[in-house]
Formats: sequence, structure tokens, C-alpha cells
Amino acid sequence: MPCSCCAFLNATERQFSQKKAASEIARYREKGPGPTTRLLRDGLVNAGPVDGTVLDIGGGVGALSFELLDRGVTRAVIVDASPAYLAAASDEANRRGRAAVTSVVPGDFVMISDQLPPGDLVTLDRVVCCYPGYQPLLTESLQHAVHRFAYSYPRDRWFVRFRVWLENTLRWWRSNPFRTFVHPPSEMQRIVEAAGFRLANRRYTLTWSADVFVKAAAAAIPNRD
Ligand SMILES: C[S@@+](CC[C@H](N)C(=O)[O-])C[C@H]1O[C@@H](n2cnc3c(N)ncnc32)[C@H](O)[C@@H]1O
Repeated sequence: MPCSCCAFLNATERQFSQKKAASEIARYREKGPGPTTRLLRDGLVNAGPVDGTVLDIGGGVGALSFELLDRGVTRAVIVDASPAYLAAASDEANRRGRAAVTSVVPGDFVMISDQLPPGDLVTLDRVVCCYPGYQPLLTESLQHAVHRFAYSYPRDRWFVRFRVWLENTLRWWRSNPFRTFVHPPSEMQRIVEAAGFRLANRRYTLTWSADVFVKAAAAAIPNRD
């Protein structure tokens, strides 16, 4: 029986295939970033200076990283479980003249997080919904976030839950082991705040929430004099 980590990697590799990567990168080149990527990019820019390193977890073909490199970030580390998406991200970095400042790292972030550098900005755009264990994914991600943490996730609405259920049922019927999840937003926010971050801005689409958090200033130490 495969270990749960291998099962996740195999399912993800199948889901985020070469064909899908090619269509995602073609769409990005033609139409620019998708709605959640735009919201996270703009939310990060509005929350303060965008500089230093972005650690883009589940960064896919790299759209959010490239958007942030164009706005002041000096280095991007894109971690993803899909080799096909990372190959597309590398090609795009070359095409944009960003290869020297873009690294791609394959694997399940939760399993390899101790080998990864911190990021001034840490991002997860439409990633938490692809991973069963939102607690370890968020906790490990937050431990790498120096200044800001931004992520998008499906809203907990009946029609979002219905759609996810339908998609998962179709996958089960086609023997596709990949699954998506609507994790509880309030519980996720509790984890982010417990790591010392406060919400700077939140934007919605009909089905997604895009949240940007900043590291809360250290609490004032009471003066004993
Ligand atoms: C829906 S795609 C989103 C890609 C990109 N962030 C975007 O918004 O275009 C989800 C991505 O997250 C990656 N992913 C999910 N869980 C992951 C994990 N634990 N470690 C690394 N990558 C992960 C998948 O391989 C996939 O490329």
C-alpha cells in the first residue's frame, strides 16, 4: 500500500498534468493572472512594500511569483507537488528573463519544509483546498513567513460545497484519486492569527476568499519603572 504522502504526490501529478500546465501557462500569457492571483497580488501591494523573497507554496506555473517579481520582489521560490507545473514555471522564468532569481522546488511542502528558506512573503493561491491536512500545511507555511502571509481558499457556501462534492464524486467515478476540500475558514484564520499575524485585507469572488495577513507588531512590553 502506498504511503499517504506518495498517494498525494501521485494523485497531484495526475491531476496537474503536462496538458493542464500547458493550458494554464497559455491562458496566463494571453489573459494575465486569474481572479484569486490578482486579488492576492493587489492585497499584498496594498498591505505594504513588496520586496525580498516570495515563497510561493503550491505556486503552480508561477503566475503569482511573476506578478510579484514585476512589483518589487527580488527572488521567488516556487514549491509545487506537480513536476509538470514546475517545468512550465521554469520555462516562463526563462522567457521573462527571471531565471536567475527564480528557483523551483518539487515535492509536498509539508514533507520538505525544513529544507526550504523563509520568505518575506509567503503565498498559497488556491492550494489549501488541494490538501487534506490544512493544519500542518498552514502551520509549516506560517513558520516560513517573515512579514506577510497571503492565501486564497474556497468560501464555505452551500453552492461551493455542492460543486466540490460533485467534482469529487465525478473523480471517484473515474477512479481519479485527487480530491478537493472546503476547509473551515474560521479555523484556518485561528491558526494564522495564533502564529502572530493579523488580517490586513480580505477580498471575495463569488466562490473564493483572498486574504492577506501581516505579522503583528511585537506586543508592547510593560514598563516596570
Ligand atoms: C489549483 S493549483 C493552483 C496553482 C497556483 N497557485 C495558481 O493559483 O494558479 C494547486 C497547486 O497546489 C499544489 N499543491 C497542493 N498541495 C501542495 C503541497 N502540500 N505541496 C506542494 N504543492 C502543493 C498542486 O500541485 C497544484 O499545482
